[in-house]
Amino acid sequence: MSYKRTAIFGAGAMGTGIAQVLAVASMDVVLLDIKTEFVEKGLKKIASKLESDVKKGKLAPDEKDRVLGRIKGSIDRRDVKDVDLVIEAVIEDRKIKGDLFQGLNGICKPETAFATNTSTLSVTDLATLSGRPDKFLGLHFFNPVPAMKLVEVIPGLDTAQEVTNEASAAMKSIKKVPIVVQDCPGFLVNRILLSYMNEVLLATEEGISPELIDNEVKKAGFPMGPLELSDMVGWDVSLHTFPILHDAYGERFPSLRLVQKLNDAGRLGLKTGKGVYVNGQIDDEFRGMVASLSPSGSRSPFSVNRLILKQVNEAVYCLQEGVAIAEDIDRAMVLGTGFPSKDGVGGPLRWADEKGLDRVLARLEDLAATEGPRFWPHHLLKTYVAAGRLGKKTGKGFFEY
Ligand code: 3HC
Repeated sequence: MSYKRTAIFGAGAMGTGIAQVLAVASMDVVLLDIKTEFVEKGLKKIASKLESDVKKGKLAPDEKDRVLGRIKGSIDRRDVKDVDLVIEAVIEDRKIKGDLFQGLNGICKPETAFATNTSTLSVTDLATLSGRPDKFLGLHFFNPVPAMKLVEVIPGLDTAQEVTNEASAAMKSIKKVPIVVQDCPGFLVNRILLSYMNEVLLATEEGISPELIDNEVKKAGFPMGPLELSDMVGWDVSLHTFPILHDAYGERFPSLRLVQKLNDAGRLGLKTGKGVYVNGQIDDEFRGMVASLSPSGSRSPFSVNRLILKQVNEAVYCLQEGVAIAEDIDRAMVLGTGFPSKDGVGGPLRWADEKGLDRVLARLEDLAATEGPRFWPHHLLKTYVAAGRLGKKTGKGFFEY
């Protein structure tokens, strides 16, 4: 079945972005939230993004009106009874998402596919709660949705193969790149990205300046600094996602105190006008928060490789666990987060191959000794190095050259 009529639950940054790309691709969309004002705000956001596309000459003015005409705002769940696909992009809370799908199971046609845009929760678990596990899957988009090409397609244990195939085809039809990944906490990209974000926050808690971190990361070729990116995604999202990864993977994702402090202070990022940065600057309140966490200051000079190596090691875990194959791991990190690439080729595994896996292993061992066991190198790296597969310089690493 190809999807013509769709419904998006949640008119926040992700829901509005998804609604926009579906409507641009000629699908009808019902955009729902719990309050009319949230829906109206979401519709305004879409209209303003489309208007900016018109100004850039990327969209004809009459096409903008046609796209907007395909999106209907609603707060009434009964408006979704005839849709072919529901995508949920509400708050990262198992109970809220589970209750929503359970309710929809009684409203939607039996053949309607259910998708969650969860960042970290188990797709299989939500599928079970929904009551239609064979028609349920994860469709994980990346912020800002109109700009990021990747959609992770995540079948649960009981998802029918044809539902995965249809959803992948639909993602191609909206000009996204679907990559099928295994259902595990954080899936592929958030596992790797949040492992690095976790390290960024530990470095910040040590007193290393956010501007230094963001600048060094951008100098290394990433499109945004990690703290700017977190301000864009929202610290409320971080508050929900980090503990899930900590519960799943233990000390590779240590608990963070700064995220709670930012939330307590209402500094959620761009959505509240204040996050780590306020108008691009660090203010006294933020400095005070960090000082209360790191009275003795940073232990060692900062190197951006400390952050990138976290991505590499987690990527190796994902490879070894079969979350995705090496090509897809790298492609997903390029398309979902802008990991540095040349002609579209790049990503953490290729980065490691370029550096030399022997050097990567040695550096991870040093970091494990100085920073802690969260840097413990994955045993696959040791196997590769012992076998002389050192990366580009020997013609074979994670890839062949
Ligand atoms: N909303 C919608 N569209 C946006 C946008 C926004 N906030 N910001 C930028 N864009 C669009 C622009 O309109 C432009 O589209 P166009 O090519 O059709 O005109 C395109 O993005 C490029 O924008 P710019 O040229 O102005 O800006 P940049 O070249 O600086 O790129 C970026 C902006 C694409 C956001 C780039 O900085 C980037 O790739 N950043 C990394 C983003 C990232 O890592 N996202 C993943 C976050 S994690 C996540 O979402 C998972 C979730 O579970 C938490």
